[in-house]
Amino acid sequence: MKITDQPGSVLGVTVEGFDHATASEADIETLKRAVYAMKIAVLKGQSLSPRQFLDLGRRLGRPETYYEPMYHHPEIKEVFVSSNVPENGRQIGVPKTGKFWHADYQFMPDPFGITLIYPQVIPRENRGTYFIDMGRAHERLPQDLKKEIAGTHCRHSVRKYFKIRPHDVYRPLSEIIEEVERKTPAVRQPTTFVHPLTGETILYISEGFTVGIEDADGEPLDEDLLKRLFEATGQLDDTFEHDNIHLQGFEQGDLLIWDNRSLIHRARHTAAPEPTVSYRVTVHDERKLHDGIRVP
Ligand SMILES: [Fe+2]
Repeated sequence: MKITDQPGSVLGVTVEGFDHATASEADIETLKRAVYAMKIAVLKGQSLSPRQFLDLGRRLGRPETYYEPMYHHPEIKEVFVSSNVPENGRQIGVPKTGKFWHADYQFMPDPFGITLIYPQVIPRENRGTYFIDMGRAHERLPQDLKKEIAGTHCRHSVRKYFKIRPHDVYRPLSEIIEEVERKTPAVRQPTTFVHPLTGETILYISEGFTVGIEDADGEPLDEDLLKRLFEATGQLDDTFEHDNIHLQGFEQGDLLIWDNRSLIHRARHTAAPEPTVSYRVTVHDERKLHDGIRVP
C-alpha cells in the first residue's frame, strides 16, 4: 500500500495497492489516519462487487443502513444507491441525490464518521464531487463571527430535501410533512465541536440540513447569522470558485473514503444529466461524531 498526497491540493491522498481482503490491521489503521489527517483518500484500481464493497467498509467500522429503504441496493441493503440508470427498465436506488451542501446523516441523532463512495457509472463531462473542509473553514472565519457563535447550537433537519417516495403519490403533502417531522425530528448539535480523532474545531453546519441556530439558553437567533456563516464558508457560491471549495475528481476503479465529521459535500449535477451511478457505504468508527453525543 502506497499513500501519496494529491498534487496541487491541501486535501486528499491517493492510495495505491490497497486490497481490503489482505490488508493488515496496521494497514487499516494507517489508512484511517490518512482519512482523518487529509480528509479524503482515493483508493485506486478497485474492482468490487456490492458485497465486497460492504466488506471493505466493515474493515473501517460498523455499517449504518440508510433509514429510507428506497435507497437500498436490491441485494445488499447496507449499500446506498444513487442512480439515474434504470436496470432492466427498473429504477434502482434514487436519482439526483445530494445536490446541496450537507454532511451525511447530519439530520440524525447519531451521525457516522466515515463515508465511502464507489462510483460505478461515471459521467463523461461533469465528474467529481465538491467538498468544503469545515475545520479549515472555521479557522478562517472572521474573529467576530467566531465570537458570535460561541456557545450556540444548531438544529438540523431533512425537511428541505426529503425526497417523495413512490408510495407517497396521491398522499396529501401535509401528511407527508407530518410523517417526516415525527420520524426524523430536527436534531440539536453544538455549532462547533472538537473532532475526537484530530482535535480540530469543526463548524458543523450545512446549507442543506441546518435549519436554525439558537443561543446557549435555547432561544432562536436571527436567521441572518446562519446566512452569514454559509456565505463565509463558501456554501452560497454558485460558481464554486470560493477558496474553500475543493472539486474531487475520480475515474473508473476509484473508491473514495472521506471524513464525514470535517467535510461537507455536494454532488455535481448539471441541467442536462448524464448517466451516473454510485454506491455508498457509511460506517461508524470507534468514536461518536463528537464527545457530546450520548445516544447508544
Ligand atoms: Fe452525501
